[in-house]
Amino acid sequence: MDKIELHIENAVSGLKPGAFDSLAPVAQDAFNTLVSGNGAGNDFLGWVKLPTETPHELIADINATAKSLREKCQTVVAVGIGGSYLGAKAVIEALSDSFAAYRHEGCEVLFAGQNIGEDYLYELSDYLKNRQFGIVVISKSGTTTEPAIAFRLLKEQLEKQVGRQEAAQRIVAITDEKKGALRSLANEEGYKTYIIPDNVGGRFSVLTPVGLLPIAVAGFDIEALVCGAARMQHATLNNQGGIALTYAQTRNALYQAGKKIEILVNYNPKLHFFGEWWKQLYGESEGKDHKGIYPAAVDFSTDLHSMGQWIQEGERTIFETVISVLGQQHSVVIPTDDSNLDGLNYIAGKRVDEVNKMAELGTRIAHVDGGVPNIRITVPALREDYLGELIYFFEAACGISGYILGVNPFNQPGVEFYKRNMFALLEKPGYEAETAAIKAKL
Ligand code: PA5
Repeated sequence: MDKIELHIENAVSGLKPGAFDSLAPVAQDAFNTLVSGNGAGNDFLGWVKLPTETPHELIADINATAKSLREKCQTVVAVGIGGSYLGAKAVIEALSDSFAAYRHEGCEVLFAGQNIGEDYLYELSDYLKNRQFGIVVISKSGTTTEPAIAFRLLKEQLEKQVGRQEAAQRIVAITDEKKGALRSLANEEGYKTYIIPDNVGGRFSVLTPVGLLPIAVAGFDIEALVCGAARMQHATLNNQGGIALTYAQTRNALYQAGKKIEILVNYNPKLHFFGEWWKQLYGESEGKDHKGIYPAAVDFSTDLHSMGQWIQEGERTIFETVISVLGQQHSVVIPTDDSNLDGLNYIAGKRVDEVNKMAELGTRIAHVDGGVPNIRITVPALREDYLGELIYFFEAACGISGYILGVNPFNQPGVEFYKRNMFALLEKPGYEAETAAIKAKL
C-alpha cells in the first residue's frame, strides 16, 4: 500500500439501515458545490487546486530562503497563531526526531506568538540571548495581537544582538500582498516577504509559504509534501470526492445519529500536533449557527490511561477517527530476560510497534463493542508525501462536510468576539464604546 486509505466499516455498521446511504446525494451535492465554487465562502477556495498550481519557482525560492536562514541561524523562531502556526508545527513534529531539541544539531525551529504567556516569552528571549537567531513572522491579516506582541519583542532583541541591517536579513515576513501592519513594516524595513493568497484562509494555508517556509527551515522536503497533496487533489477531484467525500459523509451520518463529538486518535506521539491542526481546521470551519461536530483529539496509548475510561463507558455521543501509521522508521525489539521478573517474556522478540498495533486493535474492538463507532485512516509512514496527502484529504473533507452540514466552512466570525472584549478591556483606541459597555458588566 503506497497511499493513505480510509476504512469506515466499523463506523457505519452501527447506524440504522439506510442512514449512511441516504446521505450520499447530499454529500455529492456538497462536493459539486465545492468544486463549482458556487457555495458560501467561495472566495476562499484557493486551496482546492493549490498543490498542482504551486509553481516550482516558489518552492525553489522558499528552499533558498530556508537555506540562507539555516546557514546564518542556530534557531529560527516562527511567529504566528492559529492557521499561521499549527500546520507548520504539525508537520515539523510529525517528521522530526523526538529528541531533536536535545541534540543541538543544525538549525532548530521554535514557535512564538501562539500564546500570550509572559514567562514563555521571557524564557524564549533568555534562551535566544546567546544564540544566532532569525525570525519568520506569519500573519495573514497582519494585525493579530498575539504574534504582533511576540514579533515586537523578538525584533527588538534581534536588532540589539546583530544590528538593524543584519536583523533585516534574518527576518522573513509572510503576509497579505498589500494590506495590514505587517505588510507595511516589511516594506519599510526591506524584509524578504512571501504572500498568503487572498483566497486561502488561515486554517487552509499550510501548503502556502505559511507552512512551507518553516517546514523547509526545519530541513524537510516541501516539494514531496506538495507532491503528496497533489496526488490527493487528483484522487479527490477526479473521483467525485473520493475518500474525502466518504469521510465527510460518514461523520455527518454519525452526527445525525447523535454522535456530536469526534475524537481524532493517534498511536504515534509525533502526531500530537497534527491533532491540534485538525481541531482548528474542523472546529473553525464547522462550529457555527449552533451546529457542528465538536473536534477533540487524544494520543494513545498515553491517553488510554486517562481518557480511556470516558471513551469506553462515558456518554455515547462520541465517535473516533484513528490515524494509524503502518510503518515505523526504526526497529526496536523487546529483549528476552532470563529472570523474567516483569513477566514480559511472552512478547520478547516482538517489535515495539507490534505491541502498539495490538493495543490499537484491542482498543478498536473494545470501543466499537462499547458503542463508539470507529473510522480508520491508514498512513503508510510518517513521510512528507503521505503527510501532504493527509493534509489535502482533511481539507477537502472539511469543505465537503461543512456544506453537508449547511454552514459556510470558510469563515470564522465567532473568533472576533474575544478580540473585541480584549481590546475593550485594554482600552484600545477606537473601542471606547465597547470599553464603557464591558466595564458596566464588571
Ligand atoms: O483560520 C483562521 O483564519 C484563523 O484562525 C487565523 O489563522 C488566525 O487567527 C491567525 O490569523 P492571522 O494569520 O491573520 O494572524
